[in-house]
Amino acid sequence: MIIAIDGPSAAGKGTIAGKIAAHFGYAHLDSGALYRAVALALLRAGREPSDAAAAVSAAEELDPEIMNEPAIRDQETGAAASLVAAIPEVRRALVHFQRDFASHPPGGAAGAVIDGRDIGTVVCPQADVKLFITATDEERARRRMLELKGRGEAHDYEEVLSEIQARDQRDIERETAPLKRAADALLLNTTNLDIEAAFQAALDLIKASRDGARSA
Ligand code: DC
Repeated sequence: MIIAIDGPSAAGKGTIAGKIAAHFGYAHLDSGALYRAVALALLRAGREPSDAAAAVSAAEELDPEIMNEPAIRDQETGAAASLVAAIPEVRRALVHFQRDFASHPPGGAAGAVIDGRDIGTVVCPQADVKLFITATDEERARRRMLELKGRGEAHDYEEVLSEIQARDQRDIERETAPLKRAADALLLNTTNLDIEAAFQAALDLIKASRDGARSA
């Protein structure tokens, strides 16, 4: 069982994906953490995120343990991740890891929930269920502010909003595997939903999708 969850940053997809995985006993992969880990490895090596050759090497030699480091969540790492994610060879190097996770979920789990930007379109186009999770730019900026505040980082709202919009634009406009709703992805707008309500709405969509597939 593969559940693909895509959408722009701070729409709630990571939190929802984690809760869905826990609910069904599936393994969860936050694919954004892979791109962030590549970006962090690159920054630590003193290279620029636009240095394609260095980014490709960092992706090919990636130590998945870096995904567990808190520094992957820094604003600077996120911005660099969006740049390295636009490099086709970086994406190619990371797609194997993601497909392997989907077909052989760690711990012998009966399924995988993967969230990202291109899971339903490129990484796992055969996923059993696809969700596309969105929220308004302003609500996503508000959530990102709260997240940053929780980590002790003070940021200006307008600055966070424009950073989110710039990142969306890069993710949507890049040529390789852009952020896009798959034709068969179910849409969930979380703007007016808290985490619990968004999780319930996602569960309802998954159940409806599974029931529809069974009766088809
Ligand atoms: O979801 P996130 O903010 O952690 O993702 C960080 C960056 O990685 C984001 O700007 C886009 C990129 N990304 C991607 O291109 N494809 C994915 N499947 C996941 C993330």
